[in-house]
Amino acid sequence: MTDRAATERALEAAAAGATRYLRGLAERPVAARAGAEELLARLGGPLPDGPSDPAEVVAQLAELADDGVVASAGPRFFGFVVGGSLPAALAADWLAAAWDQNAGLFVLGPAAATVEDVAAGWLTDLLGLPPTVSTGFVTGGLGANFTCLAAARHHVLAAAGWDVERDGLIGAPPVEVVVGAERHVTIDAALRFLGLGSGRLRIVPADGQGRMDAAALPGTLAALKGPAIVCAQAGNVNTGAVDPLPAICAAAHDHGAWVHVDGAFGLWAAASPALRHLVAGVGEADSVATDAHKWLNVPYDSGLVFVAHPEAHRAAFATVAGYLTPGQAGERDPDAYTAEFSRRARGFPIWAALRSLGRSGVAAMVERGCAQARRFAAALEAADGVEVLNEVVLNQVLVRFRDPGGDHDGRTREVVRRVQAGGTLWLSGTTWHDMAAMRISVSNWSTTDDDVDRSVAAILEAARSVE
Ligand SMILES: Cc1ncc(COP(=O)(O)O)c(C=O)c1O
Repeated sequence: MTDRAATERALEAAAAGATRYLRGLAERPVAARAGAEELLARLGGPLPDGPSDPAEVVAQLAELADDGVVASAGPRFFGFVVGGSLPAALAADWLAAAWDQNAGLFVLGPAAATVEDVAAGWLTDLLGLPPTVSTGFVTGGLGANFTCLAAARHHVLAAAGWDVERDGLIGAPPVEVVVGAERHVTIDAALRFLGLGSGRLRIVPADGQGRMDAAALPGTLAALKGPAIVCAQAGNVNTGAVDPLPAICAAAHDHGAWVHVDGAFGLWAAASPALRHLVAGVGEADSVATDAHKWLNVPYDSGLVFVAHPEAHRAAFATVAGYLTPGQAGERDPDAYTAEFSRRARGFPIWAALRSLGRSGVAAMVERGCAQARRFAAALEAADGVEVLNEVVLNQVLVRFRDPGGDHDGRTREVVRRVQAGGTLWLSGTTWHDMAAMRISVSNWSTTDDDVDRSVAAILEAARSVE
């Protein structure tokens, strides 16, 4: 068999396996059916001594891994905030793999680089960000927070007369980082990776929904000397609440601080005319991070970075080497805006998602997710012994099950466990303000109101069974 024929047969096997999977996706049990031991027994064993037919290998993978695949791409997965894959985005991702473009340099992939430029323009327009921001296509929300904060670190230290890229942090003026009490854990991780530490943060208290108390920010900033970065959030991972961005930007900029906004999922509210008031002020931030693999529903791995100071963004990441061929005028080298050098062409699925949905399609998808979160909240709250803990402003619902014996935490955790085991839907538990809660997150393009109603019925059935 020629190499080309072998490739075509392997792709046909992948298409057959993927199509079979997607046909059954909406009705298969949502949780994985096989555990680590079983999967290892099926997929493990010694490294084969010699080659096997590629198509057979792919067909085997589709079959052997199937029970260990979580239906997180399906319509009744409400765990974490993950989204699925829109048809055009999924198929474009296959093309990206077939083209195998290296999206680091323009010269290695002119179409990959151009598509990123086009998608960057569409995204800034859609999300209400200034057209002059620089954009980076990164691995996800953590990568986006890291990339933005590296640009911030450069900018605030350069303003203090320090070149952090050349001289590092040893001996540098201490950078003060101000965060809200309910920031996402990846902010701490990104600060750790950047040498700014996660143990010396200035923490501003949050209100009952997890929003930074902006009234406390000027006082916190006034007590600081030297370069400062303020990290705000659009979309609390439990409640969906958005920090008061206009007041935060005003106070931080008065102080000369950089404002970073982690909008991993909440930023997508900006795409909807009905919801964009929730993230008003985000256009004043110095950097904004979001995920495309969450609410835009493109495959992993896909995060987005927007920086209002392109020179700081480039200074943090651009590299020069004699063997590289830099882009000419009008040819942007994407590697100057991310912590990666060689990487996959993340722009193709994003371009396909945006082109297939259009402006109104993205808005409708985000609005539908929020309406379905409200539908969940209304139906669950109407049931005896069920309490919705948060203001459902976006796509997140926190639910608690009251226990007649007073063990509300125990009952809530057991209901979550039974729902997960039941297979109709999947969601996760959380601990919020020292209370156990069920956490429902709606972000999949294919979820229907009927999926919500079926899920509510399964949750209430699980709750009844815990007596
Ligand atoms: C607010 C927030 N920031 C950052 C992240 C991290 O995103 P990722 O998992 O894509 O790295 C998440 C993920 O849930 C998030 O909700």
